[in-house]
Formats: sequence, C-alpha cells, structure tokens
Amino acid sequence: MSAKNSSELALGKSPSRAKKSSAGMNTGRCGRGIDVTEDGSARGRVCRKGKPLACRGMTEPSYLTATRDAYDTVAADYTDYVRDELALRPLGRAMLAAFVEVVRAADVGPAADIGCGPGRVTAHLDALGLDTFGVDLSPRMIAIARREYPELRFEVGSMTALDQRDRSLGGIVAWYSIIHVPPEVHPAVFAEFFRVLASGGHLLVAFQVGDERRNPGPLWQRFGHTVSYDAYRLPPARIADLLRQAGFVMVGELLAEPGPDEKTQQGHLLVRKP
Ligand SMILES: C[S@@+](CC[C@H](N)C(=O)[O-])C[C@H]1O[C@@H](n2cnc3c(N)ncnc32)[C@H](O)[C@@H]1O
Repeated sequence: MSAKNSSELALGKSPSRAKKSSAGMNTGRCGRGIDVTEDGSARGRVCRKGKPLACRGMTEPSYLTATRDAYDTVAADYTDYVRDELALRPLGRAMLAAFVEVVRAADVGPAADIGCGPGRVTAHLDALGLDTFGVDLSPRMIAIARREYPELRFEVGSMTALDQRDRSLGGIVAWYSIIHVPPEVHPAVFAEFFRVLASGGHLLVAFQVGDERRNPGPLWQRFGHTVSYDAYRLPPARIADLLRQAGFVMVGELLAEPGPDEKTQQGHLLVRKP
C-alpha cells in the first residue's frame, strides 16, 4: 500500500487496501474524566472542565460533532493507513526535528500534539527526546493511541477549548488538525494555543496548501466508510497573518512540493510566543 500524506488522507481518499484493526481498544478515562468505553467511544460530550455539556444546557458546534463522529468511524483504518507515512516525508520530519530542538532548548514546558489521531507523531516526538503527550477530539482515536503507545499520555479534548492551564506548555504541534476547523474559527484556536503556551513556547502547524473546502459535498468516502465532515486547504500567508495577530512571532516556514500521492504543496509554519 502506498502511504499518503495525512493531509491528503484527510480529504476523502479511500485507501485501496485499508486493513481492519484486529486489536481491541483500551478501556479507561479520558483526560477530562469522562469514560472512554471498550470501543473507544465517549459516554458524553464535555466542556473544558470536564462537565457534561448537556448538564450545562450547552451544545457544541456542529462541525465538532461531525468531525468527531467521522474520525471515530474511520479511526482503525486511518491508523493502518498512516502507520508508516512519516517515513516518506523527509521535509515534514525536518520541521518536526526543528520543533523538538527549539522546544527542548527553550525548556519552558512539555509539548502537546493537538489533534494527535492515533499518536504516531506524538510517538515520533517522544523518540526524538521530547516530553510530549497527545490530545484528540475523537475518543476512538485516543483509545487506539493508548493501545499503540501505552507508555505515552493521550487525552480526549478539543483545540477550541484545551484543558490546559495558561502558560503551561512549552510546545504545540497541530499536524493536519487545524484543517478541520472552519477558517473563521482559526483566530479563536490560535488564541487558545497562545493562552496555553508559556513565553518562549513554540507552535508548529502543518496543513495542505490551498484556499478551499475539499470535501465534495455533505457525504464522502473515507477509508471504506461514508462520513460527513469538512476539511480545508489553507493559504500559508493567511495562516501566518492570523498567527501574528494572535501574538506569535514567525520562526520559519517550509513549503514542500507535492509528493507522488499529493495534489498540493504542504505548508509548515513554526512560530514562537514572545
Ligand atoms: C488528518 S488527522 C491527523 C492526525 C494526526 N495528527 C496524524 O498526522 O496522524 C486530523 C485529526 O485531528 C483531530 N481533530 C479534528 N478537529 C479537532 C479538534 N477541534 N480538536 C482536537 N482534535 C481535532 C481529528 O480527530 C483527527 O484525529
């Protein structure tokens, strides 16, 4: 099977030979105290403090519900499909290595992999010597990450309301995860990243370059499943502007030309909180 960039994978391409995961899921507690069941599903939606939204009379935005449901559905097949994909991305790995170096040098806190999916990037960062943990919207993804990398910490959560104290992190990686947030919500997400990063902390975002919503309509085929959620290609200049407006300073930008299985450039932006 030819592995593809995770951004391409996020855009509705069904793998030709996706395998079913054979292993079971962990049962446990997510990072905010809600139950993660045997199959990785969560028992309820929670706010930042871990209180059920229903108990507070709140509902979450429909794009979060749709994204969670979609990734819960494809989690096992997605995991198999991207398992070895980083090995095919030397430029992406170079940015991750640079991120590890600057976060370790600043030494102002641990790093969170936000939108960690099955945890492969979290594990890569850990192997490079970074103190890191993963956060993802999808309880089923988190159950898989915990099973695959039991030595690492993974929590259910959303980048729109992180369960992290102000200035508590030294780094954030958002590796093809901001692509599922509507562009008008990016300023709020970057403000949230700014809030939880300590001064001197770094943020690395990766995304597929463009300026459009990629899903063909309300329903699309992903990894052998029919799902309904949005994914966006993003313009690096606009994302860089928004990051500056959130208070970050630019450290570096890398545009990777499309690989054999990719249709667009891949954008990587590394910024620092002053
Ligand atoms: C394309 S996958 C990338 C996963 C992982 N970074 C990787 O490269 O394997 C996008 C991931 O972002 C997660 N995600 C989407 N929206 C999120 C949000 N608001 N907060 C946290 N995670 C989110 C999805 O559940 C999914 O696991």
